Amino acid sequence: MTSTPPNPSPNPSPSLPPPFWATRRALVLSLVAAVALTAGVTALLVNIFTRKSEQRNPYVRVVEVGENDTDSAKWGRNWPLQYDGYRRTAFPTRTRFGGHAGSEALPEEKIARDPWLKRMFLGYAFSIDYRDRRGHAHMLADQEVTKRLSKPQSGSCLHCHASIIPVYRELGGGDVMAGFEQTFALSYQELNKKLHDSGHGHPLGCVDCHDPKDMGLRVTRPGFIRGIQALASSEAAVPALPSIALWRSGKRDRPYDPNSDASRNELRSFVCGQCHVEYYCASKMPLTFPWGKGLKADDIEAFWNETKFPNGEAFSDYSHSETGAPVLKAQHPEFELWNQGIHARSGVSCADCHMPYMREGATKISDHWVRSPLLNVNRACQTCHRASEEEMKSRVDAIQQRNYDLMQRGGAAIVQLIDAYVAAKAAAVPEDRLRQAQDFQRKSQWRLDFIAAENSMGFHAPQEAARILAEAIDYARQGQLALLGGATGSTPPGTPAPAAMPAAAGSAAASAPPASAPPASAPPPAPSASAPR
Ligand code: HEC
Ligand code: HEC
Ligand code: HEC
Ligand code: HEC
Ligand code: HEC
Repeated sequence: MTSTPPNPSPNPSPSLPPPFWATRRALVLSLVAAVALTAGVTALLVNIFTRKSEQRNPYVRVVEVGENDTDSAKWGRNWPLQYDGYRRTAFPTRTRFGGHAGSEALPEEKIARDPWLKRMFLGYAFSIDYRDRRGHAHMLADQEVTKRLSKPQSGSCLHCHASIIPVYRELGGGDVMAGFEQTFALSYQELNKKLHDSGHGHPLGCVDCHDPKDMGLRVTRPGFIRGIQALASSEAAVPALPSIALWRSGKRDRPYDPNSDASRNELRSFVCGQCHVEYYCASKMPLTFPWGKGLKADDIEAFWNETKFPNGEAFSDYSHSETGAPVLKAQHPEFELWNQGIHARSGVSCADCHMPYMREGATKISDHWVRSPLLNVNRACQTCHRASEEEMKSRVDAIQQRNYDLMQRGGAAIVQLIDAYVAAKAAAVPEDRLRQAQDFQRKSQWRLDFIAAENSMGFHAPQEAARILAEAIDYARQGQLALLGGATGSTPPGTPAPAAMPAAAGSAAASAPPASAPPASAPPPAPSASAPR
């Protein structure tokens, strides 16, 4: 037996000196350490608690804000971080297709860049002045200087360009909806003067998206509330709006109310859907969001086709000055197109991409500099997508390039239809053919404009955008055929496809490869002045 074990025993023998941890000095030291640790943990806890409550309630209010505070600078004293972002919307932004070209004094004319737009709009104020959009800070001023105001415009215009709700409330004797209903009959200049006189001459502000009591998100715009209620009451499929499906399955004893029925996630898109939508805005009836049959381009077209003005006349936005066709003008349907895409269906909201979260010190805030997500791919896309920034940008660019090319083909087609109409009319072609061509022009222009006026260059729902553009081109060509008295043999939309295609189907003609598309950089087909053969 040896005095020293071959391996140190974990249990020290009592004959050995006490281990360090058992000495008095160690005891004192560990006491000190314990005190320090407790202090540290307490400090940490206090810190976490403070941060948590900062997150929960970062709203140490320096000033009280209420429904009539349309000047966001006042709110900015309570929420300086969000206000900083909000103010940055005055800065210029530019991407390949987003933001604006042109000078800081005024964005570039879209109708000069794409002459087919101007041709389509002949007979309407958009053929006079139609520019690139820019940041929210400019919305009121840009509206006040547009030459579209050289034609009489309705007070409805201000619904989406100013912090107008207190003016509605005042006009309606306390009732916002009642006030709103009067404004279409006022001239733009009259309502604009009221707005400034009452001290509310500000662009979109905090009060338009937030409840001043608790800062919860809310919608305030009567146009949106009416429109979404009509959508909810319809049969239209709404796969991207689960709260509507839920409301429909309930008692339906009161109208759908976005402010109490919608989820917070839906409100993150609804606040934008107050303005980034298709609408009727003139002096014959109140501002209308046309969603009573659904949100797709075809649903909206059907809604307008069935709409009558109060005087009984069939609805149209204007008559084309060269063909006399009663046509529709589409306006920035971002909310509608987004609804048809995979992101909406996956619960990805406008705010996810256009107001992504950012860290400011310990606080996570939403970026209130609303702009193109391509200027911010890291926060706007890479929170969900693992691909590199460059790869994400190139995916977007591929979608946008395809959309752009198809749209230019549509532009060429509509110009050729108008040319053909003018030539046919001069050649005294029978009236019924002319009428058919007008009808095709209305259908084609509606679709082309729907995608041209939408501001994502197809990104919000790429396949849907391509479908709509393909129909636009088809209708323009059918219009040309109609003028020639030719049969229009293509499948009308809505015709069910054969249930199953035999594998070997396809005559030589059907399976022939399509004429090769021009390379991405090739110029679009030039509009030709000659009528088609
Ligand atoms: C998945 C991300 C995503 C979602 C969700 C999304 N967008 Fe976009 N949006 C984009 C991208 C990408 C573009 C193209 C930007 C560009 O070309 O610079 C764009 C473009 C736009 C533009 C034009 C921007 C500019 O700089 O000119 C507007 C306006 C817009 N979106 C509004 C909306 C609205 C309103 C919603 C919700 C109804 C929405 N977006 C939902 C990604 C998104
Ligand atoms: C339903 C909301 C809504 C209404 C109503 C509305 N706008 Fe706008 N307006 C927008 C949105 C969203 C944009 C930015 C997107 C774009 O330019 O496509 C915009 C952009 C503009 C611009 C800048 C780009 C351009 O088109 O030259 C002008 C000017 C403008 N609107 C004037 C008007 C006038 C005049 C009226 C009334 C006839 C009006 N707006 C009614 C929502 C609206
Ligand atoms: C009160 C109406 C209104 C609301 C609400 C609104 N917008 Fe806008 N938005 C506009 C108008 C008008 C413009 C064009 C202003 C101009 O060109 O002067 C615009 C411009 C934009 C632009 C172009 C910015 C740039 O730098 O070119 C984007 C992107 C955008 N809005 C996204 C959104 C998103 C996302 C939401 C919701 C979080 C939203 N908007 C809510 C009316 C609105
Ligand atoms: C176009 C609508 C819109 C406007 C205008 C707007 N906000 Fe927001 N704000 C949002 C959205 C969307 C969120 C995200 C809320 C959520 O997900 O619950 C948000 C969130 C917030 C929050 C919660 C913390 C955070 O950042 O996520 C605060 C505070 C806030 N906004 C303050 C302001 C202030 C102050 C203004 C005016 C200077 C303002 N907002 C203007 C849409 C808007
Ligand atoms: C909140 C999460 C989220 C954000 C933010 C987001 N995406 Fe997506 N994205 C998705 C989901 C989910 C899909 C559907 C694909 C799937 O289910 O795998 C998708 C699909 C796509 C697709 C395929 C589109 C199609 O029609 O098939 C592209 C391209 C894309 N995203 C680009 C972007 C870009 C660019 C951004 C930033 C501007 C972005 N995404 C932001 C979640 C997100």
